[in-house]
Amino acid sequence: MKTLIISDIHGNADALRAVVDAEDAIDHTIFLGDALLAGPQANETAAILQSLDPEVCVMGNHDEEVLDRSLYASWPDEWVALHDWILDRLDASAYEYIQGYSPAGRYTVGGVDMYLHHGEIDKSLPKILPNAPNESFLALESDQPLTLFGHTHVQFERQIGGTRYINPGSVGQPRCGIFHACYGVIVDGEYSPKQVTYDPSAWLDALANLEVLEAHPKFREWLKDSLLSGYGIGEREPWTSFAAEGYF
Ligand SMILES: [Fe+2]
Ligand SMILES: [Fe+2]
Repeated sequence: MKTLIISDIHGNADALRAVVDAEDAIDHTIFLGDALLAGPQANETAAILQSLDPEVCVMGNHDEEVLDRSLYASWPDEWVALHDWILDRLDASAYEYIQGYSPAGRYTVGGVDMYLHHGEIDKSLPKILPNAPNESFLALESDQPLTLFGHTHVQFERQIGGTRYINPGSVGQPRCGIFHACYGVIVDGEYSPKQVTYDPSAWLDALANLEVLEAHPKFREWLKDSLLSGYGIGEREPWTSFAAEGYF
């Protein structure tokens, strides 16, 4: 019995396809949120996700933005333009698919009870990264010994009391300085963190073809460099420190 655990794809269909190709005989899939924005392969990503047909898709902050554009209206111009361009061309089926995403909570997948959360918590607390205080993890309000979350794009886990908190890392936008896709699998009850590298040619072509970025050439170059360097949103703290410590 194999359960695939994926999170934070961010419109990178090349990375998601590599994950699916690397894992045969997937019985169940759990997606922890942030599917499409702001990558150049939104429709392709949605199609692969829909064919994977996860038992649970948890609503992430960037999924909420698909449904409510006011959430990113105050972002810098180039980001707003990119989001609008992607959403203006989003297939109706992809939009409806995101509408069906689930809230955080207790779920049973493959006979295993677990608590699933995108991983975004109250901004007054430190983000759930490897150096976060236990308080940040407890803010997920899990009531299950197995808790899965994403959002912070670092592959790691922490045990607090009887609860194991697992972040499988990011499929489409890791921030560890290594060009690859991160995810996890549970095989017969045993969790393993995994990584796979891939060919980003189609992602790069799609980025090059985003007409909206003709007005923002430096931003386009930055997006490309960010993907290829393995620092999905540019090389910045605190992720560079975790990368230096060997986190994926
Ligand atoms: Fe994310
Ligand atoms: Fe997120």
